[in-house]
Amino acid sequence: MAIERTISIIKPDAVAKNVIGQIYSRFENAGLQIIAARMVHLSQAQAEGFYAVHKERPFFKDLVSFMTSGPVMVQVLEGENAVAKNRELMGATNPKNADPGTIRADFADSIDENAVHGSDSLDNAAIEIAYFFGKDGDLCPRTR
Ligand code: PPS
Repeated sequence: MAIERTISIIKPDAVAKNVIGQIYSRFENAGLQIIAARMVHLSQAQAEGFYAVHKERPFFKDLVSFMTSGPVMVQVLEGENAVAKNRELMGATNPKNADPGTIRADFADSIDENAVHGSDSLDNAAIEIAYFFGKDGDLCPRTR
């Protein structure tokens, strides 16, 4: 099996619910290692850039407004089949359809505020890692 890296974002609703640690435990218990992390409060331009692929969708404005409403926790997860494994842990986009025991079933209230984001392919994972951690992949710079 391939060792992959993927992006996970804990969205403002889940950060506000104080469940970052509980979500991290699920990654770790599933064999995914958090190899980089940072908490950021996205600007409108950053959120619009991140979700540019959805800019024609009817929910785009609300999505950007939600994602800029408070801090988000962004992490790089590494492990076997990390992209698919993270998506499995997250559950369906709409928490009403998410399997019991998934992050969205347990922590999300609605499709608009659904607790977590995960890269949907290896190619997008690389793009999203670069978006938050820089193109050169310096995920864990030494402090001076
Ligand atoms: S799709 O149709 O497969 O492209 O949609 P999906 O990738 O599942 O979702 C796109 C992101 O938009 C967020 N979002 C919504 N999706 C659908 N309907 C509504 N109303 C909606 N509101 C927000 C959804 O959570 C996805 O965000 P990310 O961060 O990528 O999970």
